Amino acid sequence: MTARTSDIEKAADVLRAGGLVALPTETVYGLGANAEDPAAVARIFQVKGRPPSHPLIVHIAGAELLGDWVEDVPETARLLAERFWPGPLTLVLRRGRRVPLEATGGLETVAVRVPGHPVALALLSAFGGGVTAPSANRFGHVSPTTADHVRAEFGGAVDFVLDGGPCAVGVESTIVDATGQTPTVLRPGGVTREDLEALLGRPPAVHTTSRIRVPGQHPSHYAPRARVVLVEPEKVVAEAELAQELGHRVGVLLPPAFTDAPVNAHAVVPVPGSAAAYARGLYGFLRELDRRGCDLIVASLPTEEGLGLAIANRLRRAAGPRPAA
Ligand code: TXA
Ligand code: MG
Repeated sequence: MTARTSDIEKAADVLRAGGLVALPTETVYGLGANAEDPAAVARIFQVKGRPPSHPLIVHIAGAELLGDWVEDVPETARLLAERFWPGPLTLVLRRGRRVPLEATGGLETVAVRVPGHPVALALLSAFGGGVTAPSANRFGHVSPTTADHVRAEFGGAVDFVLDGGPCAVGVESTIVDATGQTPTVLRPGGVTREDLEALLGRPPAVHTTSRIRVPGQHPSHYAPRARVVLVEPEKVVAEAELAQELGHRVGVLLPPAFTDAPVNAHAVVPVPGSAAAYARGLYGFLRELDRRGCDLIVASLPTEEGLGLAIANRLRRAAGPRPAA
């Protein structure tokens, strides 16, 4: 699984040459470029099919480097970085001059994180700079949690794929806007609300208005090819069987309490009982149901605590209205 030293050096060379490297992180695979090379950053948007107004995360090798990338580090941001980095937390702060506007979608703030994956950290150290990386999937599609997912997504459009094995967390980082007095969660993710509350001594604010450009404002995001329908857990089996009888090729994410039930459907994935295991598996399950030719996925939301909050957020987006084809 672990990339060899020669792979890491090769990947760092590709970044220096203005190329794109897919890199493993503990959350999902990223599609990386030299954060300070506007032409390389532009290629990310092109390859992903992502609107250029949609800002990227700058990945750095350690919390001690944060001050190089942002205008100032407020006390709360420093506390959050010290506690959760390396790890699945992204901090939005005022943009440092080093960060080109191409990377921030024209915003005067920048999102920064130190990923908790040894291969990502080795690459960042070998490269010596910051790496802007969105999730390595086409815009709006399911995020990748293995190197094979990345290859299936982009084929030869990425210059180098660094394989670090399957991602341990499986859902993206928690994004916290730490520019103001009150840290505000813009996207739930691998660091839970409960973790944040334990550090802050109070629940973090949660973003509710659409003033800032946050992930998933496009109604459909993290979406498999198959349409996703969400119902109450106890209705999943009946809903799936009805749709199957109506001629759909139904994939089911079967909630833990019902995994013994026989289901008449095209493909059934039993959902793990632990939220950590579900988060780790989620994107792979959605890709698997696509691969098996399902045109409809029936699922339910997990309890929205701990990692369940991020899972529910991703499933809601995946079930969101699709753009007209
Ligand atoms: O776990 C992750 O965060 C993964 C791995 C690769 O690090 N990255 C990731 O990137 O999920 P992406 O681009 O798929 O999602 C990052 C989101 C963007 O959708 C954007 O809306 C938000 O971060 N973002 C970036 N900069 C921002 C800013 N200055 N203000 C508000 N939101 C920002
Ligand atoms: Mg993404």
